[in-house]
Amino acid sequence: MGKRGSLVFLLLLQILCFLLFPQPLQSQGNSFSRPPAAKLILTQNERSDSDPEQVHISLAGKDHVRVSWITEDKHVKSEVEYGTEAGKYSAKATGEHTRYQYFFYRSGTIHHVKIGPLRPSTTYFYRCGGSGPEFSFKTPPAELPVEFVVVGDLGQTEWTRSTLEHAESKDYDVFLLPGDLSYADTQQPLWDSFGRLVEPSASRRPWMVTEGNHEIETIPILFPERFKAYNARWLMPYAESHSSSNLYYSFEVASTHVIMLGSYTDFDSASDQYKWLQSDLTRIDRLTTPWVIVLLHAPWYNTNEAHQGEGESMRKAMEELLYKARVDLVFAGHVHAYERFTRIYDNKADSCGPMYVTVGDGGNREGLALKFKDPGSPLSVFREASFGHGRLRIVNETHAHWAWHRNNDTNAVVADQVWISSMSSFKACWDDTSSAARYEL
Ligand SMILES: [Fe+2]
Repeated sequence: MGKRGSLVFLLLLQILCFLLFPQPLQSQGNSFSRPPAAKLILTQNERSDSDPEQVHISLAGKDHVRVSWITEDKHVKSEVEYGTEAGKYSAKATGEHTRYQYFFYRSGTIHHVKIGPLRPSTTYFYRCGGSGPEFSFKTPPAELPVEFVVVGDLGQTEWTRSTLEHAESKDYDVFLLPGDLSYADTQQPLWDSFGRLVEPSASRRPWMVTEGNHEIETIPILFPERFKAYNARWLMPYAESHSSSNLYYSFEVASTHVIMLGSYTDFDSASDQYKWLQSDLTRIDRLTTPWVIVLLHAPWYNTNEAHQGEGESMRKAMEELLYKARVDLVFAGHVHAYERFTRIYDNKADSCGPMYVTVGDGGNREGLALKFKDPGSPLSVFREASFGHGRLRIVNETHAHWAWHRNNDTNAVVADQVWISSMSSFKACWDDTSSAARYEL
Protein backbone atom coordinates (compact mmCIF):
# COMPACT_ATOMS: atom_id res chain seq x y z
CA MET A 1 0.00 0.00 0.00
CA GLY A 2 1.42 3.42 -0.99
CA LYS A 3 1.70 6.43 1.30
CA ARG A 4 -1.58 7.89 0.01
CA GLY A 5 -3.36 4.53 0.36
CA SER A 6 -2.11 4.24 3.95
CA LEU A 7 -3.37 7.69 4.80
CA VAL A 8 -6.81 7.01 3.32
CA PHE A 9 -6.99 3.70 5.20
CA LEU A 10 -5.95 5.40 8.45
CA LEU A 11 -8.52 8.14 7.93
CA LEU A 12 -11.29 5.60 7.33
CA LEU A 13 -10.14 3.63 10.38
CA GLN A 14 -10.28 6.73 12.53
CA ILE A 15 -13.74 7.70 11.30
CA LEU A 16 -14.88 4.17 12.19
CA CYS A 17 -13.25 4.39 15.63
CA PHE A 18 -14.69 7.85 16.19
CA LEU A 19 -18.19 6.50 15.52
CA LEU A 20 -17.67 3.39 17.65
CA PHE A 21 -15.59 4.86 20.47
CA PRO A 22 -16.01 8.64 20.49
CA GLN A 23 -14.65 9.16 24.03
CA PRO A 24 -10.89 8.72 23.53
CA LEU A 25 -10.81 11.02 20.53
CA GLN A 26 -12.69 13.88 22.09
CA SER A 27 -12.22 16.06 25.11
CA GLN A 28 -14.03 14.60 28.07
CA GLY A 29 -16.58 16.47 30.12
CA ASN A 30 -19.84 18.29 29.96
CA SER A 31 -21.18 19.68 26.74
CA PHE A 32 -20.55 23.35 26.13
CA SER A 33 -20.63 25.73 23.18
CA ARG A 34 -17.52 26.53 21.22
CA PRO A 35 -17.03 28.98 18.38
CA PRO A 36 -16.23 27.59 14.92
CA ALA A 37 -12.84 25.90 14.71
CA ALA A 38 -9.93 27.99 13.52
CA LYS A 39 -8.05 27.05 10.40
CA LEU A 40 -5.57 24.21 10.93
CA ILE A 41 -2.01 25.03 9.93
CA LEU A 42 -0.20 22.13 8.25
CA THR A 43 3.54 22.71 8.20
CA GLN A 44 5.53 20.78 5.60
CA ASN A 45 9.14 19.64 5.77
CA GLU A 46 11.18 21.65 3.30
CA ARG A 47 14.57 20.20 4.21
CA SER A 48 16.35 17.13 2.89
CA ASP A 49 15.86 13.69 4.44
CA SER A 50 19.21 13.86 6.25
CA ASP A 51 18.67 17.37 7.61
CA PRO A 52 17.17 17.84 11.07
CA GLU A 53 13.54 18.86 11.39
CA GLN A 54 11.22 19.47 14.35
CA VAL A 55 14.19 20.58 16.45
CA HIS A 56 13.40 21.33 20.07
CA ILE A 57 15.39 21.59 23.28
CA SER A 58 14.59 20.85 26.90
CA LEU A 59 16.40 21.18 30.21
CA ALA A 60 18.06 17.88 31.15
CA GLY A 61 19.54 18.09 34.62
CA LYS A 62 21.92 20.62 36.07
CA ASP A 63 23.70 22.66 33.35
CA HIS A 64 22.56 20.31 30.59
CA VAL A 65 20.16 20.62 27.68
CA ARG A 66 18.66 17.85 25.56
CA VAL A 67 18.43 18.48 21.83
CA SER A 68 15.70 16.49 20.08
CA TRP A 69 15.06 16.30 16.34
CA ILE A 70 13.82 14.03 13.60
CA THR A 71 15.33 12.87 10.32
CA GLU A 72 13.73 10.85 7.56
CA ASP A 73 17.16 9.34 6.83
CA LYS A 74 17.74 6.64 9.43
CA HIS A 75 21.53 6.64 8.89
CA VAL A 76 22.01 10.12 10.38
CA LYS A 77 24.06 9.99 13.58
CA SER A 78 22.55 11.11 16.87
CA GLU A 79 25.19 13.72 17.53
CA VAL A 80 25.18 17.43 18.20
CA GLU A 81 28.08 19.81 17.62
CA TYR A 82 27.92 23.04 19.60
CA GLY A 83 29.82 26.09 20.75
CA THR A 84 29.45 29.73 21.71
CA GLU A 85 30.47 31.12 18.30
CA ALA A 86 28.39 30.78 15.17
CA GLY A 87 29.82 28.15 12.83
CA LYS A 88 32.52 27.08 15.31
CA TYR A 89 31.72 23.98 17.29
CA SER A 90 34.11 23.35 20.15
CA ALA A 91 32.20 20.41 21.60
CA LYS A 92 30.31 17.38 20.39
CA ALA A 93 27.96 14.97 22.14
CA THR A 94 26.37 11.69 21.09
CA GLY A 95 22.97 10.47 22.23
CA GLU A 96 20.25 8.01 21.39
CA HIS A 97 17.52 7.56 18.82
CA THR A 98 14.20 5.80 18.48
CA ARG A 99 11.39 5.26 16.00
CA TYR A 100 7.80 4.18 16.47
CA GLN A 101 4.96 2.77 14.46
CA TYR A 102 1.26 3.62 14.71
CA PHE A 103 -0.72 1.38 12.38
CA PHE A 104 0.72 2.16 8.94
CA TYR A 105 2.51 5.30 10.05
CA ARG A 106 6.25 4.96 10.65
CA SER A 107 7.94 7.87 12.35
CA GLY A 108 11.23 9.27 11.17
CA THR A 109 14.28 8.67 13.36
CA ILE A 110 13.80 10.63 16.58
CA HIS A 111 17.13 11.74 18.03
CA HIS A 112 17.79 12.84 21.62
CA VAL A 113 21.23 14.16 22.55
CA LYS A 114 22.15 15.64 25.92
CA ILE A 115 24.77 18.38 25.78
CA GLY A 116 26.73 20.14 28.48
CA PRO A 117 27.85 21.25 30.96
CA LEU A 118 26.70 24.62 29.67
CA ARG A 119 27.16 28.08 31.10
CA PRO A 120 24.08 30.00 32.28
CA SER A 121 22.66 32.97 30.31
CA THR A 122 24.82 32.01 27.33
CA THR A 123 23.95 31.68 23.65
CA TYR A 124 25.05 28.40 22.08
CA PHE A 125 25.09 27.62 18.38
CA TYR A 126 24.47 24.03 17.37
CA ARG A 127 24.13 21.66 14.46
CA CYS A 128 22.31 18.32 14.54
CA GLY A 129 23.53 15.14 12.86
CA GLY A 130 26.41 16.80 11.04
CA SER A 131 24.39 18.62 8.38
CA GLY A 132 21.62 21.09 7.81
CA PRO A 133 20.98 24.51 9.28
CA GLU A 134 22.62 25.94 12.36
CA PHE A 135 20.35 26.65 15.34
CA SER A 136 21.00 28.60 18.50
CA PHE A 137 19.56 28.77 21.98
CA LYS A 138 20.13 30.72 25.16
CA THR A 139 20.53 28.89 28.45
CA PRO A 140 18.44 30.12 31.41
CA PRO A 141 20.07 32.29 34.06
CA ALA A 142 21.63 30.73 37.15
CA GLU A 143 20.07 33.38 39.35
CA LEU A 144 16.87 35.39 39.46
CA PRO A 145 15.20 37.04 37.68
CA VAL A 146 13.84 34.34 35.40
CA GLU A 147 10.83 34.51 33.10
CA PHE A 148 8.55 31.64 32.07
CA VAL A 149 5.95 31.62 29.32
CA VAL A 150 3.07 29.40 30.44
CA VAL A 151 0.38 28.19 28.03
CA GLY A 152 -1.46 24.92 27.52
CA ASP A 153 -3.69 23.29 24.88
CA LEU A 154 -1.67 24.74 22.05
CA GLY A 155 -2.67 22.82 18.94
CA GLN A 156 -1.72 24.07 15.48
CA THR A 157 -4.21 26.61 14.18
CA GLU A 158 -4.17 30.28 13.24
CA TRP A 159 -4.89 30.93 16.92
CA THR A 160 -1.80 28.91 17.89
CA ARG A 161 0.32 30.99 15.54
CA SER A 162 -1.04 34.16 17.11
CA THR A 163 -0.27 32.87 20.61
CA LEU A 164 3.29 31.93 19.65
CA GLU A 165 3.87 35.29 17.94
CA HIS A 166 2.71 37.12 21.07
CA ALA A 167 4.84 34.92 23.33
CA GLU A 168 7.93 35.36 21.15
CA SER A 169 7.55 39.13 20.84
CA LYS A 170 9.18 39.53 24.25
CA ASP A 171 12.16 37.57 25.52
CA TYR A 172 11.75 34.81 28.06
CA ASP A 173 13.84 31.96 29.44
CA VAL A 174 11.76 28.76 29.52
CA PHE A 175 8.45 27.72 27.90
CA LEU A 176 6.10 25.69 30.13
CA LEU A 177 3.24 23.71 28.56
CA PRO A 178 0.72 21.99 30.87
CA GLY A 179 -0.51 19.42 28.35
CA ASP A 180 -2.31 19.00 25.01
CA LEU A 181 0.36 19.77 22.45
CA SER A 182 -0.36 18.84 18.84
CA TYR A 183 -4.01 17.68 18.84
CA ALA A 184 -2.85 14.98 16.43
CA ASP A 185 -5.48 12.73 17.99
CA THR A 186 -4.03 9.59 16.40
CA GLN A 187 -3.28 11.25 13.03
CA GLN A 188 0.48 10.90 13.42
CA PRO A 189 1.54 13.23 10.56
CA LEU A 190 0.02 16.03 12.67
CA TRP A 191 2.69 15.41 15.30
CA ASP A 192 5.30 16.11 12.60
CA SER A 193 3.44 19.20 11.47
CA PHE A 194 3.27 20.45 15.06
CA GLY A 195 6.99 19.84 15.55
CA ARG A 196 7.73 22.00 12.50
CA LEU A 197 5.34 24.74 13.59
CA VAL A 198 6.94 25.16 17.02
CA GLU A 199 10.56 24.64 15.93
CA PRO A 200 11.41 28.37 15.61
CA SER A 201 10.49 28.80 19.28
CA ALA A 202 11.33 25.38 20.71
CA SER A 203 14.82 25.26 19.15
CA ARG A 204 15.85 28.54 20.79
CA ARG A 205 14.36 28.21 24.30
CA PRO A 206 13.77 25.09 26.41
CA TRP A 207 10.24 23.73 26.09
CA MET A 208 9.16 21.81 29.17
CA VAL A 209 5.89 19.94 28.71
CA THR A 210 3.61 17.55 30.52
CA GLU A 211 0.92 15.39 29.02
CA GLY A 212 -2.77 16.12 28.46
CA ASN A 213 -5.61 13.87 27.40
CA HIS A 214 -4.82 14.53 23.72
CA GLU A 215 -1.46 12.82 24.18
CA ILE A 216 -3.03 9.47 25.20
CA GLU A 217 -3.93 8.40 21.64
CA THR A 218 -5.30 4.95 22.36
CA ILE A 219 -7.92 3.19 20.31
CA PRO A 220 -9.71 0.48 22.29
CA ILE A 221 -8.55 -3.03 21.39
CA LEU A 222 -6.80 -1.82 18.22
CA PHE A 223 -4.13 0.36 19.85
CA PRO A 224 -4.09 0.12 23.66
CA GLU A 225 -0.60 1.59 24.26
CA ARG A 226 -0.84 5.04 25.82
CA PHE A 227 1.37 8.06 25.01
CA LYS A 228 3.26 6.25 22.23
CA ALA A 229 4.03 9.33 20.11
CA TYR A 230 4.33 11.75 23.04
CA ASN A 231 6.89 9.68 24.92
CA ALA A 232 8.97 9.05 21.80
CA ARG A 233 9.00 12.68 20.65
CA TRP A 234 8.91 14.75 23.84
CA LEU A 235 11.45 13.13 26.13
CA MET A 236 11.58 15.10 29.37
CA PRO A 237 14.15 14.88 32.22
CA TYR A 238 12.34 12.23 34.25
CA ALA A 239 15.44 10.09 34.78
CA GLU A 240 17.36 13.20 35.85
CA SER A 241 14.69 13.89 38.50
CA HIS A 242 14.49 10.33 39.91
CA SER A 243 11.15 9.63 38.25
CA SER A 244 10.48 6.32 36.55
CA SER A 245 8.08 7.83 33.99
CA ASN A 246 8.21 10.51 31.29
CA LEU A 247 4.70 11.44 32.47
CA TYR A 248 5.91 13.23 35.64
CA TYR A 249 9.22 14.82 36.56
CA SER A 250 10.77 17.97 38.00
CA PHE A 251 13.59 20.38 37.24
CA GLU A 252 15.23 23.42 38.73
CA VAL A 253 16.02 26.70 37.08
CA ALA A 254 17.20 29.91 38.75
CA SER A 255 15.91 29.45 42.31
CA THR A 256 12.70 27.80 41.08
CA HIS A 257 11.70 24.17 41.50
CA VAL A 258 9.20 23.17 38.81
CA ILE A 259 7.13 19.99 39.15
CA MET A 260 5.34 18.55 36.13
CA LEU A 261 2.58 16.14 37.16
CA GLY A 262 0.58 13.66 35.09
CA SER A 263 -3.21 13.89 35.16
CA TYR A 264 -3.56 10.75 33.04
CA THR A 265 -1.48 8.24 34.95
CA ASP A 266 -2.01 6.82 38.44
CA PHE A 267 -1.91 9.37 41.25
CA ASP A 268 -3.47 7.64 44.26
CA SER A 269 -1.44 7.21 47.45
CA ALA A 270 -0.19 3.77 46.37
CA SER A 271 0.94 4.97 42.94
CA ASP A 272 4.50 5.51 41.74
CA GLN A 273 3.67 9.09 40.86
CA TYR A 274 2.44 9.84 44.40
CA LYS A 275 5.53 8.28 45.98
CA TRP A 276 7.79 10.13 43.57
CA LEU A 277 6.03 13.44 44.35
CA GLN A 278 6.46 12.82 48.07
CA SER A 279 10.18 12.27 47.71
CA ASP A 280 10.62 15.10 45.20
CA LEU A 281 8.96 17.55 47.60
CA THR A 282 11.22 16.50 50.47
CA ARG A 283 14.28 17.02 48.28
CA ILE A 284 13.46 20.72 47.75
CA ASP A 285 15.73 23.14 49.58
CA ARG A 286 13.81 26.39 49.97
CA LEU A 287 17.05 28.23 50.69
CA THR A 288 18.34 27.53 47.18
CA THR A 289 14.96 27.25 45.44
CA PRO A 290 12.54 29.48 47.36
CA TRP A 291 9.91 29.17 44.60
CA VAL A 292 7.99 25.96 43.87
CA ILE A 293 5.54 25.75 41.01
CA VAL A 294 3.49 22.81 39.75
CA LEU A 295 1.96 22.14 36.33
CA LEU A 296 -0.70 19.56 35.48
CA HIS A 297 -3.38 19.24 32.83
CA ALA A 298 -6.88 18.83 34.31
CA PRO A 299 -7.49 21.75 36.72
CA TRP A 300 -8.29 21.08 40.36
CA TYR A 301 -10.23 24.34 40.59
CA ASN A 302 -12.43 25.43 37.71
CA THR A 303 -15.61 27.52 37.41
CA ASN A 304 -16.01 26.92 33.68
CA GLU A 305 -18.80 24.59 32.62
CA ALA A 306 -16.27 22.66 30.55
CA HIS A 307 -14.52 19.70 32.18
CA GLN A 308 -16.20 20.18 35.56
CA GLY A 309 -14.88 17.77 38.19
CA GLU A 310 -12.34 16.06 35.94
CA GLY A 311 -9.41 17.01 38.17
CA GLU A 312 -11.26 16.24 41.39
CA SER A 313 -9.94 12.75 42.13
CA MET A 314 -6.36 13.93 41.58
CA ARG A 315 -6.99 16.95 43.80
CA LYS A 316 -8.30 14.73 46.57
CA ALA A 317 -5.27 12.46 46.25
CA MET A 318 -2.49 15.05 46.04
CA GLU A 319 -3.64 18.46 47.26
CA GLU A 320 -2.50 17.89 50.82
CA LEU A 321 1.03 17.06 49.66
CA LEU A 322 1.30 20.34 47.74
CA TYR A 323 -0.26 22.31 50.59
CA LYS A 324 2.06 20.95 53.26
CA ALA A 325 5.04 21.60 50.99
CA ARG A 326 3.89 25.23 50.63
CA VAL A 327 3.80 25.18 46.83
CA ASP A 328 3.49 28.70 45.42
CA LEU A 329 1.55 28.21 42.20
CA VAL A 330 -0.34 25.49 40.35
CA PHE A 331 -0.91 25.90 36.59
CA ALA A 332 -3.37 23.78 34.63
CA GLY A 333 -4.68 23.59 31.07
CA HIS A 334 -7.52 21.47 29.61
CA VAL A 335 -10.22 24.17 29.93
CA HIS A 336 -9.90 26.42 26.88
CA ALA A 337 -10.10 29.70 28.73
CA TYR A 338 -8.18 31.70 31.30
CA GLU A 339 -8.98 31.68 35.00
CA ARG A 340 -7.05 32.84 38.06
CA PHE A 341 -7.95 31.85 41.58
CA THR A 342 -6.83 33.07 44.96
CA ARG A 343 -4.69 30.93 47.26
CA ILE A 344 -6.71 27.83 48.13
CA TYR A 345 -6.63 24.70 50.19
CA ASP A 346 -9.47 22.19 50.11
CA ASN A 347 -11.99 24.52 48.47
CA LYS A 348 -11.41 27.34 50.92
CA ALA A 349 -9.30 30.47 50.65
CA ASP A 350 -6.09 29.79 52.53
CA SER A 351 -3.14 32.16 52.63
CA CYS A 352 -0.75 29.19 52.92
CA GLY A 353 -2.15 27.37 49.89
CA PRO A 354 -1.03 27.65 46.25
CA MET A 355 -2.50 30.15 43.82
CA TYR A 356 -4.28 28.28 41.01
CA VAL A 357 -4.29 29.40 37.37
CA THR A 358 -5.84 27.78 34.30
CA VAL A 359 -4.18 28.65 30.99
CA GLY A 360 -5.67 26.17 28.50
CA ASP A 361 -6.01 29.01 26.03
CA GLY A 362 -3.22 28.31 23.55
CA GLY A 363 -5.46 28.19 20.48
CA ASN A 364 -6.29 24.61 19.49
CA ARG A 365 -8.84 23.55 16.89
CA GLU A 366 -11.58 22.85 19.43
CA GLY A 367 -12.12 26.54 20.18
CA LEU A 368 -12.88 28.29 23.44
CA ALA A 369 -14.80 27.13 26.51
CA LEU A 370 -17.20 30.06 26.56
CA LYS A 371 -19.56 29.23 29.41
CA PHE A 372 -18.56 30.01 32.96
CA LYS A 373 -20.78 28.94 35.83
CA ASP A 374 -23.10 31.61 37.11
CA PRO A 375 -22.80 32.57 39.86
CA GLY A 376 -19.04 32.05 39.97
CA SER A 377 -17.02 31.37 43.07
CA PRO A 378 -15.51 33.86 45.50
CA LEU A 379 -12.29 31.88 45.05
CA SER A 380 -12.16 32.81 41.34
CA VAL A 381 -10.56 36.21 40.91
CA PHE A 382 -10.47 36.64 37.12
CA ARG A 383 -11.91 34.54 34.30
CA GLU A 384 -12.24 35.06 30.60
CA ALA A 385 -12.75 32.85 27.56
CA SER A 386 -10.11 34.24 25.20
CA PHE A 387 -6.95 32.86 23.68
CA GLY A 388 -3.68 34.11 25.09
CA HIS A 389 -0.61 33.18 27.09
CA GLY A 390 0.77 33.79 30.57
CA ARG A 391 4.13 35.07 31.73
CA LEU A 392 5.56 34.38 35.15
CA ARG A 393 8.50 36.60 35.97
CA ILE A 394 10.18 35.58 39.19
CA VAL A 395 11.92 38.77 40.16
CA ASN A 396 13.63 37.83 43.40
CA GLU A 397 13.34 35.44 46.32
CA THR A 398 10.20 37.07 47.60
CA HIS A 399 8.30 38.52 44.63
CA ALA A 400 7.02 37.36 41.25
CA HIS A 401 4.79 38.97 38.64
CA TRP A 402 2.12 36.99 36.83
CA ALA A 403 0.57 38.47 33.68
CA TRP A 404 -1.96 37.10 31.23
CA HIS A 405 -1.76 38.42 27.65
CA ARG A 406 -4.90 38.17 25.57
CA ASN A 407 -4.14 37.51 21.90
CA ASN A 408 -6.58 40.15 20.70
CA ASP A 409 -4.54 42.87 22.33
CA THR A 410 -1.15 44.17 21.40
CA ASN A 411 1.55 42.56 23.48
CA ALA A 412 1.91 45.69 25.57
CA VAL A 413 -1.57 45.20 26.98
CA VAL A 414 -1.91 42.85 29.90
CA ALA A 415 -5.47 41.67 30.52
CA ASP A 416 -4.80 40.32 34.01
CA GLN A 417 -1.83 40.69 36.30
CA VAL A 418 -0.89 40.23 39.92
CA TRP A 419 2.18 40.43 42.12
CA ILE A 420 2.80 37.31 44.17
CA SER A 421 4.81 36.90 47.35
CA SER A 422 6.71 33.65 47.76
CA MET A 423 5.48 31.11 50.27
CA SER A 424 9.00 30.85 51.63
CA SER A 425 8.72 34.50 52.73
CA PHE A 426 5.39 33.94 54.57
CA LYS A 427 6.68 33.29 58.07
CA ALA A 428 3.20 32.53 59.36
CA CYS A 429 2.99 29.55 57.01
CA TRP A 430 6.15 28.00 58.39
CA ASP A 431 5.33 27.82 62.06
CA ASP A 432 6.35 24.79 64.06
CA THR A 433 3.28 22.83 63.10
CA SER A 434 3.41 23.39 59.38
CA SER A 435 7.14 22.97 58.99
CA ALA A 436 6.96 19.77 60.99
CA ALA A 437 4.16 18.64 58.71
CA ARG A 438 6.26 19.57 55.70
CA TYR A 439 9.06 17.23 56.64
CA GLU A 440 6.66 14.42 57.43
CA LEU A 441 5.30 14.33 53.89
FE1 LIG B 1 -7.21 18.58 27.53
